[in-house]
Amino acid sequence: KLPEKVIIKEVGPRDGLQNEPHQVSTENKAAWIDRLSESGLSYIEVTSFVHPKWIPQLADAAEVLSSIQRKPGITYAALVPNRHGLRRALDAGVDEVSVFMSASESHNKNNINKSIAETLPVLKEVVTEAKASGKTVRGYLSTVIACPYEGAISPEQVREISARLFDMGIDELSLGETIGVAVPPDVERLLEVLIPEFSNDRLAMHFHDTRGTALANISKSLEMGIHTFDSSLGGLGGCPYAKGASGNVATEDLLYMLQAMGIETGIQMERLLEAGELMESLLGRSLTSRQLELYRKA
Ligand code: HMG
Ligand code: MG
Repeated sequence: KLPEKVIIKEVGPRDGLQNEPHQVSTENKAAWIDRLSESGLSYIEVTSFVHPKWIPQLADAAEVLSSIQRKPGITYAALVPNRHGLRRALDAGVDEVSVFMSASESHNKNNINKSIAETLPVLKEVVTEAKASGKTVRGYLSTVIACPYEGAISPEQVREISARLFDMGIDELSLGETIGVAVPPDVERLLEVLIPEFSNDRLAMHFHDTRGTALANISKSLEMGIHTFDSSLGGLGGCPYAKGASGNVATEDLLYMLQAMGIETGIQMERLLEAGELMESLLGRSLTSRQLELYRKA
């Protein structure tokens, strides 16, 4: 049986904008996030407190947080790689933080400049400190199906690192299909291992749609009981340290599928599409979602 309700976590302002070649001004980012806040979303990942030299697109993280109009009931979250980032995020008044690492050694090294073994104690400090400050902490694990450098990653390897992250005290783990190669049987093999151990209630799926398989993978995840999904408006996004990784599944395309399946999300399509149009005008180009294409033709 399918879940009756799904939580969509909008990651466009972080995962989308971190990969945009052109700098979007702080003011325009805030205007876009404010529009997203009007759509009924309950969770928006607004930025990332990583090193500004690594991700210059999000160097204005603190300014973005202080420029947006916070709507009650919405969680405004941000990515943090280490204690330095956590300090900056807490000073900026973030609601929730996410730590991140990869299931594969070489993607981890390329993305955060450390081995997996070196990363674990860094994240443990961040999780402990964030929890002591009363924050909910989300974990991200990237390359859960495949790594751009190493190829296929085994469910067992993902299970081992996931266990380490839950042992640190994270509240939820988002499984990143970073390069968008997965098909439903891959998702099934992974979730068959992870759900019995960590529970469907604490796992989220984060699909990039590089090869157009994200909705099929979400459908499989729904059948297996997963009810939290990450997506980004207009399919913006990618990982700058995974060559060829394109955007996340588009929020409005995911919303169409869930609505048509009778699954509740609390999100209004019309408001979402208006936010999409605003982003298109700010970026000066069309975004690639099916729903936005239909909306433009209508
Ligand atoms: P590093 O250079 O190894 O850091 O970078 P370090 O600890 O050696 O410090 C070097 C200098 O950076 C020091 O300054 C630190 O203070 C400073 P110095 O003493 O030399 O003057 N520093 C910082 N400054 C500001 N903010 C900070 C910070 N940390 C250190 N947070 C680091 C290590 C992790 C910081 C770097 O590699 C980094 O920022 N990486 C970010 C990579 C990234 O953002 N990738 C994209 C996000 S992950 C993703 O997209 C995947 C996901 O979507 C899921 C999926 O799709 O799979 C989540
Ligand atoms: Mg991502």
